[in-house]
Amino acid sequence: MSLSFDLVPGTVRTSVQRRREILRDPGFVTHFSDHMASAQWSSQAGWTDSRVTNYEPWTMSPGSAVFHYAQEIFEGLKIYRHEDSSIWLFRPEMNARRMIRSAHRMDLPQLPEEDFLASVHALARVDHEWVPSGSEMSYYLRPFMIADESFLGVHSAKQARYAVVGGPAAPYLADGLTPVDIWVTTTYSRAGNGGTGAAKCGGNYASSLLVQREAATFGCSQVLFTDAADHEWVEELGGMNFFAVTADGMVVTPPTSGTILDGITRDSILTLAPALGLTPQVRPLSLSELIASILGGNIVEAFACGTAAVVTPIGRLLHTKGEEVETVALASPLGEATRAIRRALVDIQWGRADDVHGWMHQVVV
Ligand code: PLP
Ligand code: COI
Repeated sequence: MSLSFDLVPGTVRTSVQRRREILRDPGFVTHFSDHMASAQWSSQAGWTDSRVTNYEPWTMSPGSAVFHYAQEIFEGLKIYRHEDSSIWLFRPEMNARRMIRSAHRMDLPQLPEEDFLASVHALARVDHEWVPSGSEMSYYLRPFMIADESFLGVHSAKQARYAVVGGPAAPYLADGLTPVDIWVTTTYSRAGNGGTGAAKCGGNYASSLLVQREAATFGCSQVLFTDAADHEWVEELGGMNFFAVTADGMVVTPPTSGTILDGITRDSILTLAPALGLTPQVRPLSLSELIASILGGNIVEAFACGTAAVVTPIGRLLHTKGEEVETVALASPLGEATRAIRRALVDIQWGRADDVHGWMHQVVV
């Protein structure tokens, strides 16, 4: 039977004045909206207790499995306000399906697609006033699931919690349009064959934090990871997929092959590219080819993409070459292809272009 996420009576709301203040300058979800959707799971009872409550702290046993062995997964999707004030989700069924794949990899319970969709629609409906208007502004939803059974043996929990929280969001990197610098690491790895790279689990992000801080010391806002075995093949950034654009209009991204997150933005860009006169190419891209092609003028643009990052142009790649740090600058950081891809995507998301692929789902408030 499907879950229903009903609002419990008696929740409280932030004053209109305070909400407006937050919406004016939200950062990237520095404030959560008033409510959250949640549900509980146990191996005996399955999914129960689905509801929408105030966004509020949880009481949990310090022995909960998630605190010790990181049995956790999450998703990220946005709500977009269109000019007529209606609010919309972008391909939410893709997030639901990816969460099922992540749950499988982390041996957590699978939340059926329809229940995932019901939970995000329910929170969107209740907190619709928190969806900002204005260009580049959105409301970011964060569905997640944790193992909350209390024990210290290393085995899968028989008890879990699912919740959706969220809040207003400005672009994740810079202003979304200014090119960012990227630190290429050949020291640290994000994912290896057979590991958890294709799952959206917290551990992947925890292990990226040290090198992310190293990147910041070089003025870089994200890290580009290479394959764990040889550090030769370009994979993805800590929280975004990677694309390079050649001078003759190829948009190149590596195959996901188990170590890279199967980004919904990545998939959408591969779908949109041909209509923009660009040729999508999913193929292995070596770091040596990438650098040589940028220096030789064959790769002219590069960008990061993801729900949070949208399409963020890359200005320069910094990497270690022997004892030195080499800076490799893209010829056209916010070039024509990056602009065209970005525009095609955001115009669909914000309702300014025909949604020919049927990607947008209206939230009925
Ligand atoms: N890669 C990683 C590691 C991510 O965290 C994300 C963000 O969700 C992406 C890629 C992009 O995925 P999507 O476009 O589905 O947001
Ligand atoms: C997203 O884009 O949804 C992510 O999870 C990436 C993270 C950097 C916020």
